[in-house]
Amino acid sequence: MRHVVLVGLMGSGKSTVGRRLARALGRDFIDTDARVEASTGRSIRDIFAEDGENGFRDRESEALESALHTKVSSVIATGGGVVLRDTNRRLLDDHSVIWLRARPELLVDRVAGATRRGAGHRPLLDGDPLAKLTLMATERRAMYAEISDVIIDVDALAIEQIVRTCVDAVKELER
Ligand code: S3P
Repeated sequence: MRHVVLVGLMGSGKSTVGRRLARALGRDFIDTDARVEASTGRSIRDIFAEDGENGFRDRESEALESALHTKVSSVIATGGGVVLRDTNRRLLDDHSVIWLRARPELLVDRVAGATRRGAGHRPLLDGDPLAKLTLMATERRAMYAEISDVIIDVDALAIEQIVRTCVDAVKELER
């Protein structure tokens, strides 16, 4: 089964766009971060604190694999770091992968609120979110590029425009 998978840095809109894209395509929506929290009964922040980043990445890989095994074609929003593991990138080879690409300066406003309070599901951004997002953008750029079938530059687009661009891209990819 071929799925539509959204990748990109934290705050790029994967979950919001993914939910609306799924509705527009009449497909199910899956969020791998939500799956990790549901399957462990713990928040992502607690998993990072108790099991470390590697512990979280193990759970994330399991959630990705189980999402990709879904029997009906779905829209899957991933966590921003899903591309870090080579095994995850290989799993995505057979799916329609869309990269929501955004500049860190734009992302920081969206993610800063909860992060500044030391809350929310993005503990990797605690401290200096702009510096950390900038570093992640550099480290991950080639990995997102490697697995993406389509790249959408989202900086200047409203959510509805991003969704529409995704719908067109999926139609083209599935032709
Ligand atoms: C992460 C992104 C987060 C979450 C975790 C790690 C990352 O998901 O999986 O905090 O390494 O980029 P979002 O991209 O949905 O914010």
